[in-house]
Amino acid sequence: TNTTILFFTAIFFMFSVNVKLAFYALLPLPILVVIVYYVNTLINQKSEKIQEQLSRLSSFVQERFSGIRVIKSYVREAQTQEVFEEESNSYKKNSMSLVKVQALFYPAMLLLVGISTILTIYIGGEQVIAGTITAGNIAEFIIYINLLTFPVTMLGWVTTLIQRAAASQKRINEFLKLQPDITSNNVEKPIINGNISFKNVSFTYPDTGIEALKNVSFEIEKGQFLAVIGRTGSGKSTLANLIMRMYDTDAGKIEIDGNELRHINLNNYRNQIGFVPQEVFLFSDTIKNNIAFGLSEISEGQVENAAKNAAVYHNIIDFDQKFETMLGERGITLSGGQKQRVSIARALIKEPKILIFDDCLSAVDTKTEEEILGNLGKIMKGKTSILIAHRISTIKNADKILVLDRGEIIEQGTHYELLEKGGAYAEMYNNQLLEEENLEN
Ligand SMILES: Nc1ncnc2c1ncn2[C@@H]1O[C@H](COP(=O)(O)OP(=O)(O)OP(=O)(O)O)[C@@H](O)[C@H]1O
Ligand SMILES: [Mg+2]
Repeated sequence: TNTTILFFTAIFFMFSVNVKLAFYALLPLPILVVIVYYVNTLINQKSEKIQEQLSRLSSFVQERFSGIRVIKSYVREAQTQEVFEEESNSYKKNSMSLVKVQALFYPAMLLLVGISTILTIYIGGEQVIAGTITAGNIAEFIIYINLLTFPVTMLGWVTTLIQRAAASQKRINEFLKLQPDITSNNVEKPIINGNISFKNVSFTYPDTGIEALKNVSFEIEKGQFLAVIGRTGSGKSTLANLIMRMYDTDAGKIEIDGNELRHINLNNYRNQIGFVPQEVFLFSDTIKNNIAFGLSEISEGQVENAAKNAAVYHNIIDFDQKFETMLGERGITLSGGQKQRVSIARALIKEPKILIFDDCLSAVDTKTEEEILGNLGKIMKGKTSILIAHRISTIKNADKILVLDRGEIIEQGTHYELLEKGGAYAEMYNNQLLEEENLEN
């Protein structure tokens, strides 16, 4: 308000002294407002573009660094460097253009103020000669103009600042108000038995439109061992993700202990499941913390025990720092099979009511696999296990085997039932037997 009062009083006095002089002295001011506004908008647009570019540049660098081995093995160093150079140069160019606008802005402002002063002196000089005003009035006008330019510049400046803040706030709000697709309002915390039933479940990935599961129905009871087998892309991982409720079904329903999964307290439910995803993910942390990841507190020997059950204990003990060995970027890299087994240990340590293995024995040899399966038999006694596999040797002993093909269950039963049927499963079995024989000879 101070500024407003100052603004209008100054203009009032100017016009009361001499209308013509006031008009010319104030002439550059509206132009100044427009320029400030226009330039600021330009600056905002440019800086937004630059920010976007910077984020692109940094994710490019981050990705290339984590994929540096791939780059080396495909000899793409030079090409990667070129792309980086191009991106950096374009970033530099845009930054320079921003700086140029900013650099021009201040002198342009001063120029307009200067023009205003010159006009005042010129027109005022004529008026003094004509005797309508005194020389003191010119000095008065120059002070007025200096008083006025500041609020005028600020007006343009503040307007764009507000606009910019509003735009950013809009984007932040969009993010903050985002609702998760998967919600659960139930607060009950029942202990899960592990009876799972799928009733005509279909699921299509919303982003790709791929129908990954079609009309899938099956049941497993507490304490059973279910195996899922099928060609790649047949929907096995999707099935596991639906049991974890990473997605909701499009049609049909999944029931856990007779209650629909959608209505179950999700945290409580997931807490009682041990899930080993197909793609192993270990944190850049110690082996111990990676294994104990799902627990809030660990008791003596728990981590070691889980490692033994996952048949990775001896590997870990061989490291200098044993369970305190750092993994990932700042530590050692485990072999593929070791990673899988650490990730298995992470699921086993939770003593889950339902255990889901998504193809996580693929990188271990058959002997280790047998050892792990033997341990599982003991740990998972009376609890539900679901094993997704490609090798029939892994799942021979399952209580029920589902054979998936293009999202549909084409066969289900035990190993012997399916062999007798002589369908897809039997064919798979014979092929794998042949392969093994070939390997042995
Ligand atoms: N997150 C996703 N978004 C979109 N489509 C997906 C997603 N995950 C999988 N799909 C698609 O769904 C289909 C089933 O994939 P799924 O991962 O369930 O196969 P899978 O049986 O586990 O295969 P694999 O044996 O190779 O692991 C595939 O066609 C795949 O392209
Ligand atoms: Mg899969």
